[in-house]
Amino acid sequence: MSILLTGITTSGTPHIGNYIGAIKPSIEKSKNFEDNYLFLADYHSLIKNQDSNLTFKSSLEIAAAWIACGIDVKKINFYRQSNIPQILELNWILNAVTPKGLLNRAHAYKAAVDLNDNSDPDKGINAGLFNYPVLMAADILLFDADFVPVGSDQKQHIEMTRDIAGRFNNTYGKTFILPEPIISEEIPLLPGLDGRKMSKSYNNFIKLFSTEKELQKSINQIVTDSLLPGERKETKDSILFQYFNAFIDNNKLEDIKNLFEEGAGWGDLKKMLYEIINKELSPLREKYEDLMKNPNLVEEILMDGEKKAIIKAEKKIKEIREKVGIKPLNG
Ligand code: TRP
Repeated sequence: MSILLTGITTSGTPHIGNYIGAIKPSIEKSKNFEDNYLFLADYHSLIKNQDSNLTFKSSLEIAAAWIACGIDVKKINFYRQSNIPQILELNWILNAVTPKGLLNRAHAYKAAVDLNDNSDPDKGINAGLFNYPVLMAADILLFDADFVPVGSDQKQHIEMTRDIAGRFNNTYGKTFILPEPIISEEIPLLPGLDGRKMSKSYNNFIKLFSTEKELQKSINQIVTDSLLPGERKETKDSILFQYFNAFIDNNKLEDIKNLFEEGAGWGDLKKMLYEIINKELSPLREKYEDLMKNPNLVEEILMDGEKKAIIKAEKKIKEIREKVGIKPLNG
């Protein structure tokens, strides 16, 4: 029985890019696995920002978004990283077998160092950023995950997890499974409104659960060229076309391509896109809004998930502690 596991950092409001790139494909994929782990990486959020309101609000929003989009909370293990203390225990144990040099090579850490000048390369960099890959390894290894769906930016972290697991196994005997990443290359990254990566820092994202009015407004802001109605439009480099591509199946995409080539106006195309996206999101939006008004329900769902996950976590951490020589003295 294969185990699928993935985490989402709670440092923002879910946007349409998250929905297309992570939420929708993960829900699809989870149907093929009997044992699924999906969690809110709220301790990872502390490394990315120190805005307590943001982390708090984002945790509720992301939990509500996943529930509204249809995860089967009865079947999967849905939990907060922060409520499974065994993850932090394992984090420490893994730190002790992780070479510092491995962490020196992490892209995210290196990128932060590169932004600084040579006189103070560590300026503004917290130790949590440096240790980020170890906490991620703990998230994954504690639950014996076989497969970890992630964005391509996280590929190196999974490689590091395998490396850390291998070192532990070599030192203490086979304890951990070496997980495989699942990187959805078939799902192209949905660009932001201006064509750059969709990101909060560029303010070019569409909130997943904006109102209909806001959604319409955002779609109107998708950048196009200045070709007029009646003029032939290319789909190849069109940001708008990539949005169509993300929301409709291939057979209907041909029709849209024809409309582009026949010279449909940008305004009409945007209206069509709005209808398509809104039709898909409307029922989810309603569920989301209900959940946001009822945080007790979200809390209960997570607490149920945590009760289940913690049983597995306790069993595994006991085995790990014994391996490293931490056990009752009469044992
Ligand atoms: N670092 C991941 C991200 O930013 C989130 C994450 C934390 C994660 N722990 C994980 C993903 C474990 C997969 C498995 O996207």
